[in-house]
Amino acid sequence: MDSKSINILVIDDDPKVPWILSEGLGNGYSVDSVRDGKEGINKISQTPQSNRPELILLDIQMPGMNGIEVLEKLRGIDDKIDVIMLSGHGDTKNIVDSVKKGAAEFINKPFDVREVEIHIRSVLEKRRLKEELTELRKKLKESEKEVLIGDSPPMVEIKNIIEEVADSELTVLIRGESGTGKEIVARLIHLKSARNNAPFVKVNCAAIPRDLLEAELFGYEKGAFTGAHKTKPGRFEVANNGTMFLDEIGDMPMELQSKLLQVLEQQEFVRVGGINNIHVDVRIVCATNKNLDDAITEGLFRDDLFYRLNEITVNLPGLAGRRSDVPLLVDHFLDKYSILYKKERMELKSETIKQLQNFDWPGNVRQLENLIKQIVVRSDENIIYDTLKGPISGAGRKIPQVELSDGNFSMKKKVQETVSEVEKMMITQVLHKTNWNRRKAAKMLDISYRSLLYKIKEYKIID
Ligand SMILES: Nc1ncnc2c1ncn2[C@@H]1O[C@H](COP(=O)(O)OP(=O)(O)OP(=O)(O)O)[C@@H](O)[C@H]1O
Ligand SMILES: [Mg+2]
Repeated sequence: MDSKSINILVIDDDPKVPWILSEGLGNGYSVDSVRDGKEGINKISQTPQSNRPELILLDIQMPGMNGIEVLEKLRGIDDKIDVIMLSGHGDTKNIVDSVKKGAAEFINKPFDVREVEIHIRSVLEKRRLKEELTELRKKLKESEKEVLIGDSPPMVEIKNIIEEVADSELTVLIRGESGTGKEIVARLIHLKSARNNAPFVKVNCAAIPRDLLEAELFGYEKGAFTGAHKTKPGRFEVANNGTMFLDEIGDMPMELQSKLLQVLEQQEFVRVGGINNIHVDVRIVCATNKNLDDAITEGLFRDDLFYRLNEITVNLPGLAGRRSDVPLLVDHFLDKYSILYKKERMELKSETIKQLQNFDWPGNVRQLENLIKQIVVRSDENIIYDTLKGPISGAGRKIPQVELSDGNFSMKKKVQETVSEVEKMMITQVLHKTNWNRRKAAKMLDISYRSLLYKIKEYKIID
């Protein structure tokens, strides 16, 4: 508050008031004034929000529009500026009215400038605290969004590592299959670090075309290439003082790896087409579902960069490697999606949970999350069988293998065998799903009841 002056707009028909204030308040304040309400409203509405005064001192008794009406109109344009009402007639009704309409304080005329200054300071301090509180609440909400569910031994270990490394400046490499929670871990490391007031910037190295990635990360100077009409700062500059999350780091092209190494070692880089070094203070967290050791052996990844990125490794096991977390995750996603879709909170049968626990989850937590989302949306837990049992929904589906080593290359025969195999598999699953209700099963399979009975017999499918 002390470093720059506080801008105040006085709306009062008495010219002595702004004069006394600008003389009396002194250096830390810049006082502007208008003589009537309409002019005041126009002034505010024509000024861009970022240039508006911090505070308005508003007289109640004015010819034309009175202070209460002005306040009301003002709130329609800007509900953030604090307003202190000035009145020569401190009647209760005016005080009540203006407070109801959002005035922060009330000062009686004639006033002592020192007293006005105390009021101004207190109003602005209250606002600062309010903004701070809003900011804290926002942060709390963000951190609540990032919850890492799981109390299996590997997850407990991972949570400990996050706590230990968050506040260090170490570069973290997060490894794990797709859908295991790499991004959540990266966000948690940022949120729990002292950098959490600055941005968390995510760049997916695999999603951005190679020739654009350098400009995206490091920015470019005007004229650096066709289409570079103006200078653009890169994501590293945006992430200054914060955390840069480089997702799919294994896909970073070799040419850019040396530039990244320079950022890591000197916290400096040059924009594309630029000559000056740009200094940034950025913590790097990266993730990969590739085996970087293989990439190094194949000459696709610099080993010096690997060692620099890999000061700490977090290895996220696949969901099948921590089955005991499944019930907790199920509960968490049931909560999350019933709130999101305003559905009644379901409880799954223990048999269903057991089935979920035994499944192999090739798509890991993301796949489980999507399944629970569908269950909540459709309020039907039986749809899990589509996922768990195979070919109907597609997840976990097996492609029939065609055996050729028996030396039989007759296509007609092979196709017939494969068709039979698929038919048998589908019928078995649909019968299971419908609890052996053959009419229902025939309907789902889109074949006649008769041919279903025939096929059950032919394929010797038994209950
Ligand atoms: N332990 C966990 N607790 C709660 N939610 C989780 C957990 N792990 C993963 N998720 C959820 O699963 C989804 C996938 O997680 P995330 O995006 O972090 O995976 P990823 O490892 O980055 O996957 P990819 O390699 O495909 O990018 C997200 O919606 C995330 O919220
Ligand atoms: Mg990810």
